[in-house]
Amino acid sequence: ENEYNQTKVLKDLHIVVTAGPTEEKIDPVRYFTNRSSGKMGYAVAEEARKLGAKVTLISGPTNIQNPSGVEVIHVKSAQEMYEAANSVFNECSIYISAAAVADYRPKTTSEQKIKKQNGEWAIEMERTTDILATLGNKKDKQTVVGFAAESENVEQYALKKIEKKNLDMIVANNITSEGAGFGVDTNIVSIYKKDGSKEDLPMMSKNEVAKTILHHAHSLHVRNEQ
Ligand code: CTP
Ligand code: CA
Repeated sequence: ENEYNQTKVLKDLHIVVTAGPTEEKIDPVRYFTNRSSGKMGYAVAEEARKLGAKVTLISGPTNIQNPSGVEVIHVKSAQEMYEAANSVFNECSIYISAAAVADYRPKTTSEQKIKKQNGEWAIEMERTTDILATLGNKKDKQTVVGFAAESENVEQYALKKIEKKNLDMIVANNITSEGAGFGVDTNIVSIYKKDGSKEDLPMMSKNEVAKTILHHAHSLHVRNEQ
């Protein structure tokens, strides 16, 4: 483990990380979004860079500074995140999808502020592109890692996502357990791989979780290349 930390084991690898929420515009003052601080994805990007990788971080709106040495592409909507991710996917070695992408967006966007009226308001929503499923199902040599933030049936849902999105590995957490919630600096995750193996990690800082994820993803990548 120590030796792993000290050497630039990820040099020559291009790692793409998505992070943060997406914002789906309703009008100039309103948007639909997902809960996400971006901390987990930024920790992955930062640690990958420290381990010598070339890192592209595709980030939705967050309050976090750009990690040094990392190319950051700032986006807002799921569609913008998809276009940015798709443009770098073919040339990357490892794709790590930590973003909390909105599953739905308003079907129409108003250029003018919508004025309030008496009574109820319903917004018609349509599905966004599933970025990870689209890229996972067209992958070639890339090692593809997803996240699953669940509130119940963590293992069952995580395994389903591996299948559906053609992932090599998924990092799952129960967002209702303490120390794994939103905005905090710690996380409690389980790592599931497509070969059926599973590892439950103890509560760790998001940077420690990030290093562990990178370690597993790197091992899978070495195997994929053979
Ligand atoms: N994801 C993505 N594009 C989307 C939705 C999700 O790339 N439009 C990615 C996330 O970044 C994450 C993984 O897919 O790595 C799982 O996201 P999650 O929201 O847990 O799963 P969904 O497939 O959206 O299913 P649901 O929200 O119904 O659980
Ligand atoms: Ca979702």
